[in-house]
Formats: sequence, C-alpha cells, structure tokens
Amino acid sequence: MEIKNKKILLIIGGGISAYKSLDLIRLLKKNNIQIKTILTQSGKKFVTPLSLASLSNSKAYEDIFDVNNETEIDHISLSRWADIIVVVPTTANLMSRLCSGKADDLATTVILASNKDTILIPAMNVRMWLHKATQRNKKTLLDFGYKFLGPENGEMACGEFGEGKMSSPRQIYTFLNNYFKNKNIVKKKKISALVTTGPTREYLDPVRFISNESSGKQGYEVAIALKKLGVKTTLIAGPSKINFSKDINVINVVSGEEMMNEVKNLLPVNIAVCAAAVSDFKPKVKIKSKFKKKERNLNNLYLEKNPDILEYLGKHNRLRPKILVGFSAETEKLIENSKKKIKEKYCDLIIANDVSKKDIGFNVDYNKVSIIDKKGRVENIPKNKKSFIADRIAKKIIDKFLIDDKNIN
Ligand code: C5P
Repeated sequence: MEIKNKKILLIIGGGISAYKSLDLIRLLKKNNIQIKTILTQSGKKFVTPLSLASLSNSKAYEDIFDVNNETEIDHISLSRWADIIVVVPTTANLMSRLCSGKADDLATTVILASNKDTILIPAMNVRMWLHKATQRNKKTLLDFGYKFLGPENGEMACGEFGEGKMSSPRQIYTFLNNYFKNKNIVKKKKISALVTTGPTREYLDPVRFISNESSGKQGYEVAIALKKLGVKTTLIAGPSKINFSKDINVINVVSGEEMMNEVKNLLPVNIAVCAAAVSDFKPKVKIKSKFKKKERNLNNLYLEKNPDILEYLGKHNRLRPKILVGFSAETEKLIENSKKKIKEKYCDLIIANDVSKKDIGFNVDYNKVSIIDKKGRVENIPKNKKSFIADRIAKKIIDKFLIDDKNIN
C-alpha cells in the first residue's frame, strides 16, 4: 500500500508549530496525497483557513455546527473518508481534552467518532511535556490506541531547550510512508494465521459433557481483526452461539482432541493465537449409550488430561509458528500467573484477562486485558468492546511479526 493517493485528515491544533503544518501539506501534496484539514479555534490564531485551503485544494473545516459543513461532509463522514488522522501539532490542552473523551469542537468530535488510526504529533514547552499531568495523559492516550510521533529534543520557539519540539514535516512524511508500507507488507507477505476459540465439550456419554462458560467472542474478534489487516486467517471454534460472518473461514469442532487435530492439519502457519478455553480434562472413555444413574458405578468414571495445544505449538521444533500467542484467564494474581504461563507454554505473547468480574471476560461483550511479552513487559488495555481489544491485539501481533521478521521482501 503506497502513500500515493492516500487520504489524510490533518487536524491543526493551536501552537506556534502550526506553521509547520503548511510545509507538511506542501510535501504531502507533492506526493499526490489527498488532504482535508480541520482547524481548531486556537489553531486559527496561528494559521489561516485560507492558507490551508490554498495549499490543500480543499476548504478547511472549522465549526461542528456549520450547516454547510454538515450537509457537504459531516463529522462522521470526515473520519470515514480518511485513511489516517494526523494531529499536527497536538497541544497539551488537546491531549487533555482527548483523554477526557470531550467532543466539544469539530476536531475532538471527529477523533472520538473515528474508526481510523490517529497519530498525535505533540509540540509544547519542555516543562509542559514533562509535567506529570501530560505524561499521565500520554499514557492514557496510548492505552486508548492513539499513536505518538515525537516530540523531539531541540530548541523550542520559546527559546528553551529540551523534549517538546514538533517532528519536522520530513520526519512526519517518513513516518506516514512507513505506516502505509507496513500495511502493504502484510498483504504482500501472504501471512497466515490460525485462531482457536470457544469452549470444548468432552462427552461422557451421548448427552452429558464437561465444558465451561467461554463464549468464544474474544477469539472470534481477534480472527476478524487479523483478517482486516490482510492476514489469511482460519478460526477453529468450539461450540458457541456466535453467528459467524461469512468473511471468515471457520472450522467447527467439539472436543479438545478434534481441535488439536484441526490445528495440526493447518500447520504450518505464521501466526497462531490460542484463545480457546480447552477443557483441561476429558473422560477416559466415552460411553456409547446414555448411562442410567442406577446402573452405573461412578467409580469407573476416570478423567484424563486433554492435550495442550498451545504448549504443543510452542514446543514444535519444525513447525512452530513465528508468533505464538496464548490467553491467560485468571481470577487472582493475573500478571504474576500469566508471566509464568508465557514460559511454561513457550509463547511470544500472552493476553492476560481477569475472569473474576461479571462485566468483563467470559460471556460478555466487554473485556479488559494486559498484553505481556517474553521480556515481561506489560501493556494494559482498559475496558472496552471485545472488537476494540481484538484490534489492539492484532496490531500488536503484526507489529511483532514485522519486527521479528528479518527477511522482509
Ligand atoms: O494453562 P491454561 O489453561 O490457563 O492456559 C491457557 C492457554 O493455553 C490459552 O491460550 C489456551 O487456549 C491454551 N490451552 C490450549 N490447550 C489446552 C489448554 C489450554 O491450547 N488443552
């Protein structure tokens, strides 16, 4: 995916570096990129709507309640139109407003309503940048999924020196170019993935089984998110109530053993995400006809362990997927227990989720997870829809795949 012909929505915040946005527009236009701009009220103090319109060949949008704006292109369509949103410069004030979820002007409303990646390019005095409030806001915004470029070290307009200088138009252009190139790489490289999801059922006889509460939703959303990023994805799903989209290739299974067999059939794959809550135990023998409680001696009902799919993949010396991701559902010591699991099961990332609460995790549409890597680094994703969480997980997996992959061609 080349940057050429891409559509970029630039939001111009109110800082002295706003003047650099004009140079950025010239650079982007020279490379055949389509641009629309939103100018905040304070941004207007530094650059004029006329200069933005002249350079971008499109009017600068300003007011959320402008009837002409809303009939021509409303605040939802603006973000749908764009391939990416870039906020240049992002001021401390704008960061704080985004953190609180404000939608009190066109810029914040468009970002809140957006389904696209948003790149924040901060510029401010070094003290403002290093202030605990701004650093806390940065962390929250990263948790929300926004990306940051900069700020750089250097001399600022106020005469002070330090971290706070806005990245140059050339740096921003290079960042955007790489962003679209990486998207292209995913498609070009023909990456394949398998995702396991749902519970399994381990039948004692034709009507009775051992199972669990898993709905399979989170794994299903991860499969959709990977597919959206251009990965050839197959979902191996235990019994669930999900109405699977036709866009996704689904293999339905019932037991843990069947799930294991389908996983083996799909190898080799580049990425495997084991989100299934495979039943840890299964009856040693399945009784052919329904057993009667009077007839049956329960002492003869023996259980044995199910094969561990994640561990099997992690230990595979020939066909181990390049990126192997496990899930860790815990009710206590979430991070500590999950860090142990990453070692025990030989995986690259583990998605830790707390299943002790009613409003997140098993059988609901919301989740709250921490992504842990082999070095023990933890990235927290606050409570959100499972589809949002899945997008973040999928992006993390692909970023890791691309970094780990030395032979990009
Ligand atoms: O040890 P625990 O069951 O908590 O580990 C959970 C992780 O292991 C999940 O990623 C789950 O999909 C995977 N797993 C598996 N096969 C099993 C049991 C768990 O792939 N039999």
